[in-house]
Amino acid sequence: MSPHYGDVIVVGSGLSALLTAKHLSKHMNVMVFTKSDKYENNSFLAQGGVASAIADTDTWQEHFHDTILAGCNHNQQDTVELLTKLGPGLLQELIDEGLNFDKDEQGRISLGMEGAHSHRRILHAGGDQTGRRIMQWLHSQVSHSVHVVEQETVVNILTRDDRCYGIKTINRFEERKTYYASHIIFATGGAGAMYSYTSNDPSVNGMALALAHQAGAILTDLEFMQFHPTMLHVNNLVVGLVSEAVRGEGAFLVNGHGKRIMQGIHPQEDLAPRDIVSRAIFHELEQGGKVFLNIENVMNFEERFPTISTMCRKHGISIEKKLLPVVPGAHFFMGGIKTDANGETSLKGLYAVGEAACNGVHGANRLASNSLLEAIVFSKLLAEHILMKPKENSLEPKEEKTSTHYECTKTLGPLPAKRELQAMMMKHAGIVRHADGLQELKRWVETYEPYWQELERLEMSLSSEEIERILMLQIGHLIASSALKREESRGAHFRSDFPELKKGWLQKRIDHQEKIKLL
Ligand code: SIN
Repeated sequence: MSPHYGDVIVVGSGLSALLTAKHLSKHMNVMVFTKSDKYENNSFLAQGGVASAIADTDTWQEHFHDTILAGCNHNQQDTVELLTKLGPGLLQELIDEGLNFDKDEQGRISLGMEGAHSHRRILHAGGDQTGRRIMQWLHSQVSHSVHVVEQETVVNILTRDDRCYGIKTINRFEERKTYYASHIIFATGGAGAMYSYTSNDPSVNGMALALAHQAGAILTDLEFMQFHPTMLHVNNLVVGLVSEAVRGEGAFLVNGHGKRIMQGIHPQEDLAPRDIVSRAIFHELEQGGKVFLNIENVMNFEERFPTISTMCRKHGISIEKKLLPVVPGAHFFMGGIKTDANGETSLKGLYAVGEAACNGVHGANRLASNSLLEAIVFSKLLAEHILMKPKENSLEPKEEKTSTHYECTKTLGPLPAKRELQAMMMKHAGIVRHADGLQELKRWVETYEPYWQELERLEMSLSSEEIERILMLQIGHLIASSALKREESRGAHFRSDFPELKKGWLQKRIDHQEKIKLL
């Protein structure tokens, strides 16, 4: 198979990926790769909307303040300023190009409310179909300019002289290919699907972060996984998200006896930051109770929340009874590939944007509906940055190794199933953590360490699914290590053995860098 060359490779298919590709494709040749179908990503699933201080009564400074407060002061202030200050203008550019949001009777964009916001500032589309509408519109914009390759998994980042210059992939027929480009952008989402209860698309499982780590890029803030308080819970399974916007419209959480569980816990009650609401639900469940979202105060529920209504009907939950059974689930990874505001990682030629990246904007806990805004702002900054860079000579591809099989797999023992890892993550690196459980998780994952240490050599004898599982185990190991190291509780990272927030940890970041492979 002859190699493929291009200016830019974007890995991922969500809003950050597509917007970056859209901006760059006006000037460069761009290829987008996704391991699943183009609409299988977290952006497509986004219900709530896009947070932006566009109301006359609102200011970017208040949005900035809310973001830092939710992030427990772990945020990097410069990136929060970029997000909240540039957000309204960049959003308006997309609206001017034809992106639509829901409007009120006077024709003004209607703004929703979500947790930890001091104003109504959430733009939404089709009620709770915001992500779907945005992604469909975006695909219609780039269909002629961007080549999207579906069902092709990136399994290796090619590096030489501390620079990355290409990727290796495996497609749905298990064919292996190599692509070269001057700029490789990871917009792959986070790691929510590492957990058994999650709102994430199953493809968003952290594998890409492990690949970046294997190539030598620094990962950071991995102890901060946000658990969204309300996933619809049916027959012991999470079947989808119930947007925070539902609580924004007046819904409240009750236990099995009908008692409101957020009263007396936080002044914002049901609209407290997500980590606080998730922990309150967790404690109720730990005591053997059940938690429901009471929607009796929400006007026109089915009209305002069509996706959630359909999901309830599909799973036999009656909207008329006004009580939706909920549990928290992994939702958003604040940690990721360490970048600056322009998306530069520590590895030359590799960039990261959106949830895959950690530029410090979300701190220890992301504010509701800031992630689609993050995609809009930082994809633009990344694209502008790449376009301003002097053109570099592309590295001559090195002859690829053609080794076929590596016998070592025989002695390593079988890999665990994904659901086993997901259950271990949920139990030991979930909403409430403790050194004992984290150690147990770490020890268990370490039994598979030879797999990720030897991945370079094993790669040719493994399927894409096996490689994915190995990389998930590696990310699990890094999450457990970070969570063990941070001996305090801050935002989404709660340690029952260190329940206090500690000043000494403020702004401290735990970085992981390990050059495992030398190509
Ligand atoms: C939601 O609709 O509750 C999710 C929105 C978000 O994660 O910001």
